[in-house]
Amino acid sequence: MLRYISFFFGEERSHKLAVALLRLADKTPCCKWLLRKCYAVEHPSLEREVFGLHFKNPVGMAAGFDRNGEIFNSLDALGFGFVEIGTVTPLPQQGNPRPRVFRLPDDGAILNRIGLASKGLERVICNLRHPHKGIVIGCNIGKNSVTPTDDAAQDYLRVFRNLYQYADYFTVNVSYNTTFKQYVPRTRESVSKILDPLFDFRRGQNQYRPILLKISPDLTDAEIDTMTDIMMDTPLDGIVATNATTKPAGLKTAGDTLKRIGNGAVSGKPLTKRAIEVVRRIHERSRGTYPIIGSGGLMTADEVKAMLDAGATLVQIYTGYVYNGARFVGDICRSLTEKENNESESKSDTSI
Ligand SMILES: Cc1cc2nc3c(=O)[nH]c(=O)nc-3n(C[C@H](O)[C@H](O)[C@H](O)COP(=O)(O)O)c2cc1C
Repeated sequence: MLRYISFFFGEERSHKLAVALLRLADKTPCCKWLLRKCYAVEHPSLEREVFGLHFKNPVGMAAGFDRNGEIFNSLDALGFGFVEIGTVTPLPQQGNPRPRVFRLPDDGAILNRIGLASKGLERVICNLRHPHKGIVIGCNIGKNSVTPTDDAAQDYLRVFRNLYQYADYFTVNVSYNTTFKQYVPRTRESVSKILDPLFDFRRGQNQYRPILLKISPDLTDAEIDTMTDIMMDTPLDGIVATNATTKPAGLKTAGDTLKRIGNGAVSGKPLTKRAIEVVRRIHERSRGTYPIIGSGGLMTADEVKAMLDAGATLVQIYTGYVYNGARFVGDICRSLTEKENNESESKSDTSI
């Protein structure tokens, strides 16, 4: 239905409507119960223990959908195993002028240049104070676009420190750049400058919060290796690979339509191959010893399986959910359960 609403009102307004409905559902226990009954699939074989956290299934909602932590309980009822809220910036910021989110149906993609619109840290703290037992919440953190690059580390630390007690894990977003300020740290020095203060802060805390790094698919292979080495050489707990691409190749959408829409980051189908490739590269280089969250172009249950086979421990979806609708998470979970059952059956066959 949202497909038709988005056709008439635009992608971002239809997203806002969905968020408003899910917020309403969040306040009504019987709605959440109904959503869970209709959409959630639970099975012991779906459960995962990753970086000390228990996930009821490996399928998460990627960052950008619940930017301010307003609907994680409803997303939980819709069957997600975890929700990554954000990107959260220290101060509220509007992002780029609208319209800034577009469907590219011929490509099974979304182009966006939201530019990290965020209601800011204070609002997110209020939202995360609501009880959220049973759902893992990750918090994706970033810098305000007005903050000079040299001071970026302070922004990340401020969000991390203030949200530390409210989120289960943190993702440091060094990949998302639709603010056109060209701030995508790619070197060991620039990434360490952001991560080191977070590690220092965490050392002084009683509770441990895993820290992950979210990387761009547009990094070169050598840069991906550098990010993997950072993970292996420092207390970084894992990598989220990947974000949307600002260099999509071979789009089917007509050139003049793309010109009219303008620049942005593309997610969905054009990303599938590269995202799986990046995850495989990280997995092989780190010899499968670190958790990787695979994200990017997962539009079918088979692509989710391919991502897990490439070495992802958990996956996140966004564009696939927008295109396939609310049943998508349940479909993935059912398909993963069948896979597990088939594998255990064939194992018991060979052991006879
Ligand atoms: C409209 C939109 C907004 C997004 N906002 C964010 C964001 O704020 N922070 C972030 O790290 N990623 C953001 N993303 C990227 C997604 O989290 C995801 O990594 C990317 O879209 C690839 O997954 P997909 O192909 O399943 O959509 C956004 C994506 C979309 C489509």
